[in-house]
Amino acid sequence: MNLVAGATGLLGSEICRILAAAGKPVRGLVRASSDPAKVEKLRSAGVGLVEGDLKDRSSLDAACQGVTTLIDTVSSSTFSRRSGDSIATVDLQGQFNLEDAARAAGVRRFIFVSFPAVPEDFPLQRAKRAAERHLIESGLTFTILQPAFITEVWLSPAAGFDAANAKARIYGSGRNKISWISCQDVAAFAVGCIDHPAARNAVIRLGGPEALSPAEVVRIFEETTGRKFTVEYVSEDKLRQQKAIAQDPLQQSLAGLTLYYALGDVIDMRKTLKTFPVPLTKVADYARGAKSLD
Ligand SMILES: NC(=O)c1ccc[n+]([C@@H]2O[C@H](COP(=O)([O-])OP(=O)(O)OC[C@H]3O[C@@H](n4cnc5c(N)ncnc54)[C@H](OP(=O)(O)O)[C@@H]3O)[C@@H](O)[C@H]2O)c1
Repeated sequence: MNLVAGATGLLGSEICRILAAAGKPVRGLVRASSDPAKVEKLRSAGVGLVEGDLKDRSSLDAACQGVTTLIDTVSSSTFSRRSGDSIATVDLQGQFNLEDAARAAGVRRFIFVSFPAVPEDFPLQRAKRAAERHLIESGLTFTILQPAFITEVWLSPAAGFDAANAKARIYGSGRNKISWISCQDVAAFAVGCIDHPAARNAVIRLGGPEALSPAEVVRIFEETTGRKFTVEYVSEDKLRQQKAIAQDPLQQSLAGLTLYYALGDVIDMRKTLKTFPVPLTKVADYARGAKSLD
């Protein structure tokens, strides 16, 4: 049995969909507070459901019974946040709880979706690094996936990229290249890792098929939509100021992540693709069919 934690999320729901469509047994971890429409979509796709919360260890012990592979996409810091959820309770202690519950239940493979080491210090990065270390030291067979920038998140209105209204917010100069990767492709890698020997006890950085600067991305959207974009730049200095004055861990982390965007990150996928031949989605393909997260 495969258990997907974060099953209602952008990435987790896609992993559930792929597994169910392939006829593989899949159970999604959901919460009583999860969006009922998302839960119903999972149910109608043939995904089994189990209730659990990363803040509640006993619920995780129950959810992990009979599980061979656990795919963990949970985060409190993207779009889902309920009362009591925070980086400390979910991304840090909650991840420890899930890893410990998986180990106690005899789960054979734990696939954790993290992100690459960022040359900035902020609470979410500390939590991800600590969760990775805890997993590596747990004795579980692990795969740590480190996608860089998920296209559907960073090129969406939620991140200031509003293609429908031809408006883009760019963090930094817009010249540093980023390996944007589609959430469908991250999901395909996660599923491809389940039984793959090369994914045993491996840390895999994930990027898309080509590194593009934000300015190049805007040009691709302009060519695809035939509309001139209005672009607002947020300078690196301004981002550093925002990070320095941010009061809470979430705001500090969002500022840290936008600084990461400003610095750029190029991930060479040639070697990884030889082992995991996932056909990667180009930003131009996304621009043609861009779906809004808002
Ligand atoms: N965005 C990027 O560019 C990027 C890049 C690299 C890595 N990542 C990582 O990719 C992962 C998936 O991101 P995403 O965009 O799919 O996130 P998302 O859409 O916000 O989904 C988060 C999921 O976590 C669940 N969750 C949150 N708190 C929980 C708790 N206390 N107990 C149980 N479940 C909880 C949510 O469930 P509910 O529906 O019940 O709230 C939801 O299913 C995250 O770990 C993120 O850090 C993202």
